[in-house]
Amino acid sequence: MRTSTHIQSLGFMHKYRKKLCPVKQRKMMDPQSNEDEHQLNNSAIKRYFENTNKGSASSVSMMTHEYNFPTSAATYRLRKEQRTIRKWLDDVDSYGSVLDVGCGAGSWMEIFAKRYNRVIGIDQSNMMVKAANEKLGHLSNVKIINGDVRHDLPKGPFDMIFLGGLCMYLNDADVVELLDALKTRLSESGAIILRESTTSRGKKYAQGQYQAVYRSVNVYNDLFSGSGAFHVDVQRNYGYTNLVTAEELVNLRRRWLPILPKDSISYDSLTWWGLRVIEPISFWALPRTLTQFNIPWPILQNHFFRLRLAK
Ligand SMILES: C[S@@+](CC[C@H](N)C(=O)[O-])C[C@H]1O[C@@H](n2cnc3c(N)ncnc32)[C@H](O)[C@@H]1O
Repeated sequence: MRTSTHIQSLGFMHKYRKKLCPVKQRKMMDPQSNEDEHQLNNSAIKRYFENTNKGSASSVSMMTHEYNFPTSAATYRLRKEQRTIRKWLDDVDSYGSVLDVGCGAGSWMEIFAKRYNRVIGIDQSNMMVKAANEKLGHLSNVKIINGDVRHDLPKGPFDMIFLGGLCMYLNDADVVELLDALKTRLSESGAIILRESTTSRGKKYAQGQYQAVYRSVNVYNDLFSGSGAFHVDVQRNYGYTNLVTAEELVNLRRRWLPILPKDSISYDSLTWWGLRVIEPISFWALPRTLTQFNIPWPILQNHFFRLRLAK
């Protein structure tokens, strides 16, 4: 996941980069450089998720900590996301086992614990594991493991394996290896569900303290096919992109109205609630209309993917 503050822009996006990507210190790759040569540094990624800076572990996990949106904005996103993949979640047997890979502070595990028989989460951040344990430790069907998903996966089989904003922190080779390992832990009729921030084409990197790679849907499809035969379903995640729209507007305000305080609970909340009031336009008609004209807005999109073993 992550916001427009993190991405570099190419083509259309390049034209608007200066306007849309202000504030934070995060360094983007030089658009001219060979993007394939860049490798993410897992120590930096681990460090980032050990620190709340401002906000709580839960807001860092949901990546809402850099904006002063009300807590209900994160709830809104989660509720809308559940609606988007409701059918996929319904397809999983309620007696089944679920693995949440890169579970963060446990927002999705909480949902899974209510729906399914057994839920295991794994995350490499001590802070996230602690927060998830505080939130869910009392539930008898939940177990949380502190470990690196590249080495410490629990044994399967699982009826659903969920990766919410995880692959963006892994290099391509690690994604393919991870999917290979997850495939062997999937029950015959099981599904891997991923949620990832996406670009309109190619790959873009966030560098510096915050490191991530944003891939297009096509790049993800190539990675999936690199790890074997999957049936792939894709859905746009409007719950997430609506929040990113608000973040991009806050970034614009911070850049173009420097006389206003940069870090303002009132102005940030006002942006969120303003967009919610005109939701049929701001969150429904506008993104769909712009898509018709191939204009990516917000710059960073978000998609859900479902992978099932090809028979
Ligand atoms: C943006 S958060 C998403 C949390 C949660 N999945 C959600 O959807 O709310 C990404 C999480 O992935 C974890 N993570 C990143 N790389 C990891 C790795 N190699 N092994 C385990 N966890 C990792 C981070 O610690 C962080 O908690």
